[in-house]
Amino acid sequence: MKKHVMLVFGTRPEAIKMAPILFELRKHSEIKTTFVATSQHREMLDQVLEVFDIHSDYDLQIMKDNQTLEDITNNVLDKLGPILNEEKPDILLVHGDTTTTMAASLSAFYHKIPVGHVEAGLRTWDKYSPYPEEMNRQITDNISDVYFAPTEQSRINLLEERHGDQNIYVTGNTAIDALNLTVRSDFHSSLLEQIPATQRIILLTMHRRENQGTGMRNVFKAVKAIVEHYSNVSVIFPVHLSPAVQKEANEILGATPNIHLTEPLNVVEFHNFAAKSYLILTDSGGVQEEAPSLGKPVLVLRDTTERPEGVNAGTLKLVGTEYDNVYRNIALLLNDDKTYAQMAAANNPYGDGQAAQRIVAAVIERLERINR
Ligand code: UD1
Ligand code: UDP
Repeated sequence: MKKHVMLVFGTRPEAIKMAPILFELRKHSEIKTTFVATSQHREMLDQVLEVFDIHSDYDLQIMKDNQTLEDITNNVLDKLGPILNEEKPDILLVHGDTTTTMAASLSAFYHKIPVGHVEAGLRTWDKYSPYPEEMNRQITDNISDVYFAPTEQSRINLLEERHGDQNIYVTGNTAIDALNLTVRSDFHSSLLEQIPATQRIILLTMHRRENQGTGMRNVFKAVKAIVEHYSNVSVIFPVHLSPAVQKEANEILGATPNIHLTEPLNVVEFHNFAAKSYLILTDSGGVQEEAPSLGKPVLVLRDTTERPEGVNAGTLKLVGTEYDNVYRNIALLLNDDKTYAQMAAANNPYGDGQAAQRIVAAVIERLERINR
């Protein structure tokens, strides 16, 4: 009988970084591959699936407006369990630190199905930052049997928690594999063409739960002040569909000249916008991995990061969410060419774009071991 690998994911970043693994697995006809979409995100997941032409085998359809963490956890447990019972995969692969990831791992544990964690070992060691992601990844790593650590640092974090070295594979991050599928020299966009070439583009994303409210308002006000002061700066902000983010973004930044609020961009658009921007402001995890590869300075709108590699590479700077600090750091990158050049050197600490191949090779090797 064919060995069976099941992937479970449900948000935009998981889909972007699991797609290369799904493509790689599907090259192996000796393996049965199943993809269960939790659809913790609906539209933002579908954008990725559509661009990459991926179809789910099961769709749990859990998303609801303003969903709570309990809603996500309960619904994944309720709806994934029966599928695991029926399909009995040999291994379940999850990604990163979302509540889909944590709940799917827990479900697999309840059904005694081994778990492989992609992007394992990232840590801030602060359980409320990011919230709830830090605890989601710690729980997932505690449950997991196999760890796909993107970097040596994440391997060290896992070893410090006494996870066995024989179960850890340092693979690089599949974010780089995904970038290789999306960034194109002939990319065109009507929005980009509307913005005069003399404008410097700041690409902004912000969505974290711990930033919603005061932090987000401070940042948006600082961004607005920058655009009002520097007439040669335009901001593109694809606004996350979370109602909490939509409300603040529209209230503070709506109808401001040179600030373009858009729907979430599909991943091909976003990666190419990032490649054409002057600098990036973000509290996103995935964007912190992509920007060093694109040679774009990133001001990280958080106080901590589980991605120190990008800070060490010089591309990322943590600036938090205080108005003055955010304004000052954007102004510095606009005014000081030397600081800009130092941060803009392309230094990609996340591997060679072959992470998915390494992950699939390791999964197959482990499944063969079970056979023997
Ligand atoms: C989730 C993850 C976060 C990840 C982020 C990526 C958790 C708890 N959070 O946060 O780790 O960084 O995804 O974007 O797992 N919504 C839509 N359509 C969509 C997506 C979201 O309408 O396609 C709205 C819904 O009202 C939903 C809300 O956004 O209730 C929040 O979505 P949720 O997945 O709970 O939180 P995110 O902030 O997206
Ligand atoms: N992204 C996208 N469209 C957007 C904004 C981001 O495709 O409008 C991509 C981005 O390139 C990265 C991923 O989404 O690969 C990051 O997702 P997000 O910031 O939602 O989540 P996080 O990485 O913080 O968990």
